[in-house]
Amino acid sequence: MTAVDSTTQPLHNVASNPGTSRGLILGIETSCDETSAAVVERGGHTLSNIVASQVAIHHRYGGVVPELASREHLRNIVPVVRAALGEANISLQDLDAIAVTSGPGLAGALLVGIVYAKALAFALGKPLIAVNHLEGHIHAVLLEQRELVRASGASEMLTPSRQVLALVVSGGHSHLYLCRQQIGPNEHLMWSYRNIGRTLDDAAGEAFDKVAKLLGLGYPGGPWIDALAAHGNATAVPFAFSRIKEKAHLRGTKASNASLAANSPDRRFLFSFSGIKTAVLRYVETHNLKPSIAARKQALASIANPQPEDALPYLDPETRDLIASFQHAVVGDLKNKTFLAAETFGVDRVLVSGGVAANRELRVRFTAEAADRGIAIAFPSLALSTDNAAMIAAAAWPRLVAEDFAPADLSADPSLALGT
Ligand code: KG4
Ligand code: ZN
Repeated sequence: MTAVDSTTQPLHNVASNPGTSRGLILGIETSCDETSAAVVERGGHTLSNIVASQVAIHHRYGGVVPELASREHLRNIVPVVRAALGEANISLQDLDAIAVTSGPGLAGALLVGIVYAKALAFALGKPLIAVNHLEGHIHAVLLEQRELVRASGASEMLTPSRQVLALVVSGGHSHLYLCRQQIGPNEHLMWSYRNIGRTLDDAAGEAFDKVAKLLGLGYPGGPWIDALAAHGNATAVPFAFSRIKEKAHLRGTKASNASLAANSPDRRFLFSFSGIKTAVLRYVETHNLKPSIAARKQALASIANPQPEDALPYLDPETRDLIASFQHAVVGDLKNKTFLAAETFGVDRVLVSGGVAANRELRVRFTAEAADRGIAIAFPSLALSTDNAAMIAAAAWPRLVAEDFAPADLSADPSLALGT
């Protein structure tokens, strides 16, 4: 029995149908506040990746409003798919499959993509592939690695058969996964995932967003804190992440939390970001920062489409230090737990993905730590760090090769877990 690298393997159904031989997948992503469609060839070459962001709509509410998100997806899905096909210079008939995010995410938002993708697949007589959004974030890195290999002839860092540790950090998730390729049905290589770490409360991106809101900055908060942290002293406020206590990780309120806890009981790899958010609030109160926050909010509200630099004149030195120290502490905690997990599981390849992977301090500190430890590290480009459909189409490729298609009754699963 020989395993075949799914990135170079021909498709069964494609081989028997010369009209569809390019391995073209249309990816559709609508799990949160970006409507995205992309065309990716054989999981390793992006022909188009269109993202319609709803930031301008949710901005005034300081967070994603689910009903508005669904409405905007409905408005955007047709033009976004049309633009993705146009930019790829292909027609619907050229596609080999349609891939869509089936979860986790907002139920109503997911359903817009799923219903559209189902109808399209049915009308075209093409297979439909369901993709887990978190798996998509991991494949954002794998896709770009393959593109690099194609362009430069360099050897692939994240080769099959080598275990990879993935930190997925976004607005809704903070997970550590051990990822590997294994021989699946039909002797094809399929990715498998073991969830070894997660957050007990807020996700890392959520902490960035909540702290930014608390300090009167813009939405989403991550890019604001990232830009403004460079203007403060990162060690001025000594935030500490206490160790997760013995039984705290089993106290999950949701069933999915409880089952995950049972599968990943090592508390050294658990995150908790609600404490630091409360510590920032306490600092604001004890240092009487509320009046300056109110003034900053008012000033930014009078600017159309405000950018982080617009906040600088309204940031006192104390708040600049607070922002820098908050980011430093969160990045330090993510880094310490990720590299401890790499050491514990003997993994020498790490990838970081999801919106928070765009953070500059995170990239610098993870890169330095990886170099010290002789570990290979990879991040997605900034465009593929946040939500996009290219990562969904890339994750779908091994499933197309293995003919692992979605059932006709595919529906949205807002709390879909990845792996075991
Ligand atoms: O992956 P993503 O686009 O959506 C989810 O799946 O949640 O991630 C969005 C999250 C937001 O919380 C946003 O504040 C955060 O990623 N983010 C950042 C940065 N850019 C986006 N956090 C820290 N630094 C950044 N540069
Ligand atoms: Zn995401």
